This record gives sequence, C-alpha cells and structure tokens, in this order.
Amino acid sequence: MRAPLRSRIFKIISEEAELNNVRAFVIGGYVRDFLLKRPSTDVDIVVEGSGLELAENVAKKLSVGVTQFKKFGTAMFRYRGMDIEFVGARKESYTSDSRKPAVENGTLEDDQKRRDFTINALAFSLQKEDYGSLIDPFGGLDDLRDKIIKTPLDPRKTFTDDPLRMIRAIRFATQLQFTIHRDSFASIKQHADRLHIVSQERITAELQKIMASEKPSLGFYLLEESGLLQKILPELSALKGAETMEGKGHKENFSHTMEVLDNVAKESNNLWLRWAALLHDIGKPATKHFDKKTGWTFHGHDFVGSKMVPSVFRKLKLPLGEEMRYVRKLVKLHLRPIALVDEVSDSGVRRLLFDAGDTIDDLMLLCRADITSKNPATVRRHIGNFGRVSQRLIEVEEKDAIRNFQPPVSGEKIMETYGLPPCREVGLIKDYIKEAILDGKIGNNAEEALALMEERARELGISKPVDKDK
Ligand code: CTP
Repeated sequence: MRAPLRSRIFKIISEEAELNNVRAFVIGGYVRDFLLKRPSTDVDIVVEGSGLELAENVAKKLSVGVTQFKKFGTAMFRYRGMDIEFVGARKESYTSDSRKPAVENGTLEDDQKRRDFTINALAFSLQKEDYGSLIDPFGGLDDLRDKIIKTPLDPRKTFTDDPLRMIRAIRFATQLQFTIHRDSFASIKQHADRLHIVSQERITAELQKIMASEKPSLGFYLLEESGLLQKILPELSALKGAETMEGKGHKENFSHTMEVLDNVAKESNNLWLRWAALLHDIGKPATKHFDKKTGWTFHGHDFVGSKMVPSVFRKLKLPLGEEMRYVRKLVKLHLRPIALVDEVSDSGVRRLLFDAGDTIDDLMLLCRADITSKNPATVRRHIGNFGRVSQRLIEVEEKDAIRNFQPPVSGEKIMETYGLPPCREVGLIKDYIKEAILDGKIGNNAEEALALMEERARELGISKPVDKDK
C-alpha cells in the first residue's frame, strides 16, 4: 500500500534527504496511528545515515530551530503543531567481551527489528521513487487489521532488551482494545520478574496511559493475569478472591473495583477521579472480618484505605500535592453519601457538604459508580435511594450554602471582641459555632453566629475588655 503523505513537511524531508544522499522514512507510532486513522502529532523519522544532519538541513529550509540530543543521536523541532524527531537507523551488535549491546549505524530493517511490536515497526518511505510506500517486514498491517499486539522477533529477546515493553504491550492492548498474541503474553508472564530493572517513572507513565483509556479495566486485568500487578501495586492485587465461611461469601473485590473504575471512566476523563475509583477499596484486605451473625465485614476500610493513599502515591512516584489529597479525600468519604440513605437528615447532609466541599460532585459520581451488583433489581433500588440523597444535597445546599463554608464569625473577630491573643479558647468558640450551624441549631449567618459567640464566651468565663476611655 501507499500513503499519500500530503503534508508539506514530508515533501521537504524527502527532497532534503535526496540532496543529502541519505534515505529517510516515517516510522513507528505515526505510521500506526495514520493507518488506524487516529490523529497524531508526533512524527519519528529514521534516517539511513546522519539523523542530526538531515534534521539541521530540513529545519534551515523551514527556518525553525532544532534541539539536538547528541547523547542519543536524535534531533527534533516543532513545525505547525507537530513534533518531528530524527534519528539515525541503528543496529545492535554484541561484542565478545561484553553482554551489553553496542549500538551502531544500520539499515531501516535493522532498526525495525529493534522495535517493540509489529504494529510499531511499520515505516513509510520518503524516497522519490516509492514515496509513501509501506515497509512492513513483520506483518504489522495484518496485525493492525486482526487487532493483535505481537513482538517482531522472539518475544524473549524483545522483552529482555527492554522489560518496560511488557507494560507497553498491555497499554497498547488497552488503548486500542487489541489482543496480545499468545506467545508474547506467555513471555510477559515468564519475564514479569525483570520489571524491577525499569525505572518507576517509565512504569507510571504507562499506567497513566492505561488509566486514561476508554476502558482501563482491560489493562488491569492483563496486569493481574501476567503477574505484573503484584510487582507494581500489590495493594490492588490483594483485592483478588472471595472467601466463603459457613456458607457466607463476600463480593470479589478486584472485579468490583474494575467495574467501578470503568463506570467512572464512562462518566469522566478526570484522571484523579479514576485513581480514586481504582483505590477506593484498598483498605478492604486489612479490615476484613468474619462475624458469625452478620457475615463478612470491612469496617473502617474507607479510613484505612485513605491512610494507604500517600504511600501508594509515593511508591508510584505520582504527585504528592493537591492530586494526592483529592484522591485521599474521596477514598475516605466514599461511603458517606450512601450511608445517608437510611436517614437523610439535614444535619447529615450539611456535614457531608462541609467535609466534601468542592469535591462533592466527584464524590457523588464515585459513589454512584460504586453501586454494582449482579442483581439488576438491587442496583435499581440502590440507585433510587441514592437519587433521594442527591436531591437532598441540592436542597440543603440551596438553603444553607455549606459547600464552600466560610465561618460567619472569624477568629479575628473573636480575638478583637474579647481582646484575646491567638489561643485555644478562640478555636473552641469557632468550633462551637460551626457545629451549631452544621447541626441546624442556628442558621449560617452572622447575626445568629454572633449571639452564639457571646453565649459560648460567657460559658467559658471570657468577658469583653473594659473600655477605659468611657
Ligand atoms: N519503542 C520501542 N520500545 C520502547 C519504546 C518505544 O521499540 N520501549 C519504539 C516503537 O517503535 C514506538 C516508537 O519507539 O512506536 C516511539 O515510541 P513512543 O513515542 O513511546 O510510542 P508511540 O508508539 O509513538 O505511541 P504513543 O505516542 O502512544 O506513546
């Protein structure tokens, strides 16, 4: 087959390559995505000869600046919203005195052999005589059509060369909804232990791509089945399995988590909300208990799970600021909306609004996604109850405006009124007012709050300073 490659950039690279007396090809992800009709702005050009020199000459013609990475022999520039990267074709060879591969200049075919999957080893020629022809030595086009992820060489070689490719296989299978070839998957299972030589940053970058996919559970099931999940996130694989005692079983928490994750992914692209879904039940294994009367319980798994979030984030090298706090908060609060079902009191609703603040909508989405059951009638009933809680949230918020609660009497006001320095008593009065508002004893307004301040100050034996000038 032949691709039209109408973009001006490809024509110019083609002309310059001819002038430089080298052969150039578009390769890798751009070719794959072009054939899949997926938009792509990253273009990799492989050159039989010097990639750096060709990049310089093309950039000069386009009057753009080039960034060179001499250590890697690559050079890149941006052109009309596209990132164009040039590299010389490489070949691996083993010297007798070292098991480490030495990289030397090679042909296009040498370069294609070094790539991870057949669908990523496709190239388009930029030579005048066969401009746009597909060069496909490993049957990548067939694999694209059959939706298969397969290594171009013996998978043992491809995966030992770079064990990250085991997760990349799963990432592409998830993103594209492809199947990993039997032999490649068997090899991943066999080499799962090799993952330890890969940096956490590279692993996590792939995890994030799995998380951002349309149906992230596909990736986590594959990670689990291959044995990689135990290495990356044992807290999650610990959710596998359902025990039965005295005829009583419990939900299989791994597949439940997968269902919740996909439910959230259907509704939201917010990556961190998806992480909250993934981690919402990680406190379950540690809190699991069998009670003869009530059966299995996981009391406090919300709290225990939220305490585990920082260490999971630290281990995965995920950001430890706002994003981590958001996930921790959602894990901690994930049972609260549904707990209100039995008794939708205004004070319960106000407390939930106060604790959740701006995350309330995301929390409700997570909580709604958490309603899973094999019995459609049960799901319908829970969703009906949940709808009532949602309605009360809207009504109470309209009436009391708790969501972005600002105390109607500030600490400064209390200090000024009673001539106090910052001290415990100021906190006590402030808390008393806040609790009274959340309990509905007084309204969320300054007048009632000031009256309550005076009452509480009297109880604490605090009086206003005497004004000497009067
Ligand atoms: N590649 C590889 N082994 C790796 C990483 C990359 O063989 N561990 C090759 C593949 O041929 C891949 C190309 O380098 O197509 C570019 O890699 P990258 O930009 O990471 O992936 P893309 O295929 O472009 O996909 P995406 O943009 O979705 O990351």
